Amino acid sequence: MKIAVFASGTGSNFAAIIESIKSKKINNVEVVLLVSDRPDALAVRTAINESIPVFTFTAKDYPNKQAYEEEILEKVTQLEVDFIVLAGYMRLLGHVLLHAFDRKIINVHPSLLPAFAGKDAIGQALDYGVKVTGVTVHFVDEGMDTGPIIDQRAVTIDPKETRETLIKKIQEQEHKLLPEVIQRLANKEAVK
Ligand code: GRF
Repeated sequence: MKIAVFASGTGSNFAAIIESIKSKKINNVEVVLLVSDRPDALAVRTAINESIPVFTFTAKDYPNKQAYEEEILEKVTQLEVDFIVLAGYMRLLGHVLLHAFDRKIINVHPSLLPAFAGKDAIGQALDYGVKVTGVTVHFVDEGMDTGPIIDQRAVTIDPKETRETLIKKIQEQEHKLLPEVIQRLANKEAVK
């Protein structure tokens, strides 16, 4: 299964996918493209180091979302991408990609959806004072973190939890769950 990963930031999930492939924790999965809306993102540097093709763009150079998504679609079609994985991609997808990759786009989100959708889910959970939060991998639709849920992992919030310790616990779960779900998709297992 050929995947394209979309990332806007650090790309620790992207790195976890690459590591899972290299260490053969997951099989029959190939990352054929990294897409980023931030040419200076750390994820881009990781891709270059790993000799993974990169497509970067700056949204404001295009008249609208449709225009840059058409360019992305051309790339992913050329590379015969089967699945798109959003891993910290900070933009809502538009109809061009959603239509072409119906049920073939997944996202990882740092909360137990539907709680704490949107930005800074970890901060939202801490502010609310919940005792359990977690990680969700879901199919992407036109909404913000609203598509059908594939799998989740719970993370407890301890009384002395800080933002830093919680981020670490959440990331540990993300870095396991996302590659696991990708493997299930590659195996064509029923995930929903
Ligand atoms: C992750 O917490 C992910 O759940 C969210 O964005 C963050 C990306 O982190 N969608 P990284 O760039 O993979 O380190």
